[in-house]
Amino acid sequence: MDSPAPVAPARKRLVDYRPPDWLVPEMALRFELDAERTLVHARMRVRRNGAHASALQLDGEELELLSLAVNGVVRPVNAAPEGLVLEIDGDEALIETVVAIRPAANSRLMGLYSSGGNLCTQCEAEGFRRITFFPDRPDVLSRYQVRLEADAARYPVLLANGNPGAAGALPDGRHFAEWDDPFPKPSYLFALVAGDLQALEDAFVTLSGRTVKLGIWVAAADVPRCRHAMESLKASMAFDEQVYGREYDLDVFNIVAVHDFNFGAMENKGLNIFNAKYVLADPDTATDWDYDAIAAIVAHEYFHNWSGNRVTCRDWFQLSLKEGFTVFRDQQFSAHIGSAAVKRIEGVRQLRASQFPEDEGPLAHAVRPESYAEISNFYTATVYDKGAELIRMMATRLGAAKFRAATDRYFADNDGTAATVEDFLAAMQSQGLESELFRRWYEQPGTPRVAVQATHADGRLELLIRQSNPKLPGAAPLPIPLRFALFAADGRKLLERDDLLLTDAETRLSIEGIAEAPILSLNRGFAAPILIEPAPRRDELLVLAAHEDDPFARYEAVQQLMLSALTASAAGGVAIGHDEVVEAARALLAKAGDDPAFVAETLLLPSEALIGDRMPIVDPEAIHAAREELRCSLLSALREPLWAAWRGCDAPEGQAPRAKGLRRLKGILLSLLLADDGAEATAAAFGQFSGAANMTDRMSALTALSHSQGAERDDALRLFAARYDLLPEVLDKWFLAQSSSTRPDTRAVVEALAQHPRFDARNPNRLRALVLGFAMNQTRFHDRDGAGYALLAGHVLTADRINPQSAARLVQPLARWRRLAEPWRPLMRAELERIAHTPGLSRDLTEVVTTSLS
Ligand code: ARG
Ligand code: ZN
Repeated sequence: MDSPAPVAPARKRLVDYRPPDWLVPEMALRFELDAERTLVHARMRVRRNGAHASALQLDGEELELLSLAVNGVVRPVNAAPEGLVLEIDGDEALIETVVAIRPAANSRLMGLYSSGGNLCTQCEAEGFRRITFFPDRPDVLSRYQVRLEADAARYPVLLANGNPGAAGALPDGRHFAEWDDPFPKPSYLFALVAGDLQALEDAFVTLSGRTVKLGIWVAAADVPRCRHAMESLKASMAFDEQVYGREYDLDVFNIVAVHDFNFGAMENKGLNIFNAKYVLADPDTATDWDYDAIAAIVAHEYFHNWSGNRVTCRDWFQLSLKEGFTVFRDQQFSAHIGSAAVKRIEGVRQLRASQFPEDEGPLAHAVRPESYAEISNFYTATVYDKGAELIRMMATRLGAAKFRAATDRYFADNDGTAATVEDFLAAMQSQGLESELFRRWYEQPGTPRVAVQATHADGRLELLIRQSNPKLPGAAPLPIPLRFALFAADGRKLLERDDLLLTDAETRLSIEGIAEAPILSLNRGFAAPILIEPAPRRDELLVLAAHEDDPFARYEAVQQLMLSALTASAAGGVAIGHDEVVEAARALLAKAGDDPAFVAETLLLPSEALIGDRMPIVDPEAIHAAREELRCSLLSALREPLWAAWRGCDAPEGQAPRAKGLRRLKGILLSLLLADDGAEATAAAFGQFSGAANMTDRMSALTALSHSQGAERDDALRLFAARYDLLPEVLDKWFLAQSSSTRPDTRAVVEALAQHPRFDARNPNRLRALVLGFAMNQTRFHDRDGAGYALLAGHVLTADRINPQSAARLVQPLARWRRLAEPWRPLMRAELERIAHTPGLSRDLTEVVTTSLS
């Protein structure tokens, strides 16, 4: 039976921001830890903030209030479900509460919860209110003193923020540990961990000569798999000192890995908590991609110590202030330890895969959103990755020295405070940035288009450059740094410009001394997160593919060749432009040995999702057919060079950039060799799988085989499952390989795997591998009967009762319904409606569903 469609939930607005009525300078917490029922004793010193008569409001969620006292006077316990409102005489008070919470029953994984027998917390954004009553907003900064008490046998390790203090035994087999964090922090940075853990230990000597004790805490058996994370941590600490002048500020820095976690990791002061898949690695269990992701995320969370913790956010609308900046900082770190060109290509691919579609769809929002119903829904590609692109534009515009001076200024001026995007822009402006213009980037959703019209006559080139934003017609023009170069038809570079900043809707440029009509190479290095329209002609792209000296632009030329062939073929039903792609690929293969990583990235065909994003209307079958056809054209035209290159990809073990590049190329070549599912390639893939000395080769072979009809596919999956049955982060790869398969039986396989003893809908990693993996599978998710959509919707509804954040993320593939052709569009919409009409949806899911349907 249908219930009425849900009303969009109430929204908080940036314009309504008011400073807190009450501050909490001091917070003392005592935990009597227990998985079933934990008691939390809180003593808060509160201080009236300014002259007003408002009551003290404390947030609280799913808390059982046991006692309450104000200035030592006991008050009756009648808390509303959404918190406490206390009338206070005077300007200061001591508030004491005792609450009970239930970690083992906490399936949302927000607040204090149990994972694999250990206890841990996640408080960002609004999880602290699930631990105790508190003004749970980032502009209330407190100094925390924490005492943890627990059963000594079950929870031998007790960790919290800050520096360790007293510890010792208690009666009845219990013990305690005290922690003191000298740096005032918002409640979202609070953390504790209690468990049976062992540490990989190390030390780092800071710039000023202080020794910091480092620990990465995991189950005893996993300690050897923490070495890469530890090396990454030490490299991050050194990088932040050298590049930003930022030194670590406590005596200890701890990382804990947990298997049940809603996202990647969390930067709690001095006690980062990580999704185990971003900590544990060795060559037998982690791919090179995993190694890189671990380094990037360890760096990201560490860098938050300054960009996030020492300087935090005034309110959650400012989230990109810490996240965009910190993503930019981790991207710089990754570029520094690896190949900058390849890192940039990967970064742009990710931006185009997740942020561009978000910015075009119903969930589009500004990097600084104006309103939200549920803040958890705004930890998005826009806030993180587009936010990082904005910082990158500013950094490039200022140049390294001034950008450093500007960030020094930002940290100095805002240390110990909760800041805004304006504070960041003011620091940039102090070094000459056009901050008033750049601010617009934070406020306007949508991907800007830049169109360039060139006319050439009498040795003069006239460029008419127009910017527009289909999401916001008539919006104030953005400052767009447009790096470009001009090339002659024979490949000579005629001119290069790095300093142009478009500030108007229309810009005219006149360039003298250009003898022939040139080829334009626009947005080199992807200096701005924009779309160039239209793309260059195919003959021009071939010249750029061969002669551009900017690696990103060279990559881009090949990608554009592929995209133009694929979109034309998908729209017209006949193969178009294959010859040019083959020619470009042949040239790349001939130089594969020089720079395997670059060749690998460049040879990789655009995903079906990306092809769809470049088309006015998405026909998933036509797109899949066009892409398969191009893969087959490449294989039949280049069979021998592909085999030769694949055989030439043997790499030494280890994480040296060239070895990683060779393995990456080997995997991409193998997948091309399997384009026609031939017996020889299938056998080669199985050989690579069974002979692999590392997870990268094993996994690229398994992925290539996963689409195949051959018996080798079943054998490989069986061997893999047997070998890694007990390692959950590795077994996720096995689930993902099957849910991502293009085989016609994939939906049935996914349905069967949902009944597998190792499937657990409460574990976010597993749910993601099986269900989100399937929903991202452009071939099988869009099966014509709509059964793929129904399968997803069913999992969304189940997930919502367990963990609303998971459900709100899982449902997002359905939000694209408007872009789909018939018959897919109404089928997709119907599933979204079915979800919308289900009673009792969470606020998280309701916001995403109502926004997607509106
Ligand atoms: N701040 C964490 C990070 O570094 C992520 C926290 C995500 N929180 C959430 N509610 N989605 O990026
Ligand atoms: Zn972050």
